[in-house]
Amino acid sequence: MSTNKKTITETTPTAGCSLAESVGEHPNAITNRFYTYERVQEIVQFIQTIVPTKPEVAIICGSGLGGLAELIINKTVIPYSNIPHFPRSTVAGHRSNLVFGTLNGISIVCMQGRFHPYEGYTTAICAFPVRVMHMLGAHTLIVTCAAGGVNQSYSVGDIMLIKDHINFPSMAGNNPLIGHNDERFGPRFPPVGHAYDRQYLSQMKQVAHKHNIELREGVYCALGGPCYETIAEINLLRLLGCDAVGMSVVHEVTLGAHCGLRILGLALITNKCLSQYDSTVEAVHEDVIRISELKANDLQQLILDFVGLIKENQI
Ligand code: HPA
Repeated sequence: MSTNKKTITETTPTAGCSLAESVGEHPNAITNRFYTYERVQEIVQFIQTIVPTKPEVAIICGSGLGGLAELIINKTVIPYSNIPHFPRSTVAGHRSNLVFGTLNGISIVCMQGRFHPYEGYTTAICAFPVRVMHMLGAHTLIVTCAAGGVNQSYSVGDIMLIKDHINFPSMAGNNPLIGHNDERFGPRFPPVGHAYDRQYLSQMKQVAHKHNIELREGVYCALGGPCYETIAEINLLRLLGCDAVGMSVVHEVTLGAHCGLRILGLALITNKCLSQYDSTVEAVHEDVIRISELKANDLQQLILDFVGLIKENQI
């Protein structure tokens, strides 16, 4: 009997694979098996042949907010399409470049265009560039994004400091760290309760005060998109204590916290979310881009001053 069983195992096409590898593997586990530590190293080495300078700060630009990269001097622009194993951004309003250079005296790497789960990428793919930027040398991650205002007191054009987040995809079993954990990236069970650096939060408030820019501070909630939310969903998010909603950020912050980056998050409120059935105004992507571009200057000013403080070792 045991002889029979052995014969079947040896002739099956998946011989040598575990059941998980051959069928039920989570898409993030597959992604994480592809983007190994060695593969991330390979990408980093490729980039270092073009840009030998070590970046200190990594910035990810949200929808319509990629103009920040224009302020970078001594710039080297590497299109994602030129980087081995790098995905491409497919969203209108997002460019697809990794931009290196100096911003207010500090060495920067900036993602002009990010990846979203609604484009068809796993959350692990969306976030893996954070590991690349960390391995290049960055110790700080600044994420910016457009978001819908869930908090009824928020207005279009407000800038919200992200003090915490609700990672809905993760709560539903779609965390970017699912799968094999390579301890060289970070621990198996990383704490994320303080993912957004407290000192950075208070420093950014002072920067805003100096510029007379009123900042909100709140909880960002990520949903999968690409649909904007229903009225019932927004009312649910309000009950849960969310202040802003979007389709990005949280998976990037998860990998950033995993590898020990200090993180600052800024959300630009581009629209007010519907919470009444008699309201006729719906969120549209064109408005999101238009408001982002309109308010981009304020956001850029804040980031410019903030990275200047990092440069001066004040934070
Ligand atoms: N919902 C989700 N994502 C968004 C929104 C929104 O209302 N506005 C900008 N990004």
